[in-house]
Amino acid sequence: MQLFDDLEDFGAFDEAVAGNVRDPYTELARMRHEQPVQRLDMSIMPHEDSKPVFLVYRYDDIAQMLRDNETFSSSIVIDAFGDALGKHVMLGMDEPEHRRHRSLVSAAFSQRALARWEDELVERVANELIDRFVERGRAELVREFTFPYPTQIIAGLLGLPREEYPQFQRWSISLLSILVNRERGLAASQALRDYFAPILEARRREPREDLISRLAQAEIDGQRLADEEIFSFLRLLLPAGVETTYRSTGNLLFGLLSNPKQLDAVRADRSLIPQAVEEAVRWDAPLLMITRVATRDTELGGVAIPAGSAVMPMLGSANRQEDRYPDPDRFDIFREANTHISWGLGVHVCLGMHLARLEMRVAVNRLLDRLPNLRFDPEGDDPHIRGHVFRSPTSLPVLFDIEK
Ligand code: HEM
Repeated sequence: MQLFDDLEDFGAFDEAVAGNVRDPYTELARMRHEQPVQRLDMSIMPHEDSKPVFLVYRYDDIAQMLRDNETFSSSIVIDAFGDALGKHVMLGMDEPEHRRHRSLVSAAFSQRALARWEDELVERVANELIDRFVERGRAELVREFTFPYPTQIIAGLLGLPREEYPQFQRWSISLLSILVNRERGLAASQALRDYFAPILEARRREPREDLISRLAQAEIDGQRLADEEIFSFLRLLLPAGVETTYRSTGNLLFGLLSNPKQLDAVRADRSLIPQAVEEAVRWDAPLLMITRVATRDTELGGVAIPAGSAVMPMLGSANRQEDRYPDPDRFDIFREANTHISWGLGVHVCLGMHLARLEMRVAVNRLLDRLPNLRFDPEGDDPHIRGHVFRSPTSLPVLFDIEK
C-alpha cells in the first residue's frame, strides 16, 4: 500500500525521536515538590560549557520567565537548531526582530484566514485519508491518519502539487529526525531549500492563493521578508506545525478511546470537541519542555541563575500541577477550564494554535462520522503514550463498523 511505503521508516523514526518513557510524570511531580527550580551542572544544550542548566517545574515560575523575554532569551534555539532550520527562524529571535517577523507572518494564521481552509483543505485531507481504510473495519490510526494528516495539510497550505506530497513527507521525516541523525536532517534541510527556491520565485512573479504567496507579499512599513527568512519559516513549519499536531491528535484520540464514556459523550454532542481538544493538549502535551538562555544574572523561585545558563521550562510538569488541576493525571474533558501552558506563553506563544485546534476538531468529527462504533481493538498490541521530550501514542489500533 502506497501510504505504508511512504512511511516505511516511520517506526524507526518515532522510536528514536520519542524515546520509550511511559511515565515521566511521577518524576516531574517529585521534582515539582522537591526542587521546583533544579540546577544541573552538565548538559547537552549549546550554551557556554561552564554554565549550568536549570529545569523549571512550576507553573508560576514558568509563566514568569516566559513573560520576561528580555532576561530569558530564545536565541539558544538558533544555537541548537540554526544549521537545520536556518539562522532566521522566528522561534529563536528576540525583540525587536521577532516582533517584525511575527507581524509579517501572523495574518496568515489568524482564525479568519484559516476559515477558508477548513472545507477545501482540512476536511478534504481528513476524508481522503479515511477513504483508504473505511471499508476495512479496522485501522492503525497513527500511521494511517494522525501522522500523514498535518503533513498533507501544511503541504496544501503551501500550495504544493499533490503528487509531491509523498516527497515532502519523506523530507519531513528526515528533518524531524535531526536530533538522532544529523547528517540526514541537514541533507533534508538543504533539499527543502532547493525545493522551495523556484516555487518562491514563481510566487513572487505570479502570486496565488497560498501561504508561500502570502509570505512573499507580506509587507510592513515598506519591509518584506527576505528569501532566507521565508525558507527558515517554511522549514520551521515541519517541527512546529507537523510534529506537534500529529502527536496531539494522537493523544486526543488515545484519551477518548481509552475513556469510552467520554468518547460516547463527544459522539453524541460534538460541541464538546473544543474542550476535549484543550484537555488533551493539557493532559499530554506533545512537547514536554522548551528552552531559553539567561541574558543576565537573575533569580527564579529563590534560586540564583547566572547569565549564560540554559533555562528549560518543563511545560509537562506545569500542566499537571495539583493546585491548578485537581486529579491532574486524569484525562477529563469535563474538568473546569483552567489555562494550560502547552501553547507556551508571552511573545513566542504558538502561532499555529488556531490551525492545530481546527485540525484536531475536524479529525475527531470526521472519524466519528465515518467510522461508526469506533473503538480500540482489544487485540491491539498494548498501545500507550510514550516519550520524555515529545509524546504521543505508539499506535492506535481501532475497529469500527462498516456501513453497507
Ligand atoms: C498541538 C499542537 C501544537 C502545540 C502544542 C504547539 C506548541 C508550541 C509552543 C509551546 C510554542 C512556543 C515555543 C517557545 O516559546 O519556545 C510554539 C511556537 C510556535 N508554533 Fe506551535 N504548537 C502546535 C501547533 C502548531 C502548528 C499547527 C503550527 C503552524 C502551522 C505552529 C507553529 C508555531 C510557530 C511558527 C511558533 C513560533 C512562534 C514564535 O516564535 O513567535 N504550531 N508552539
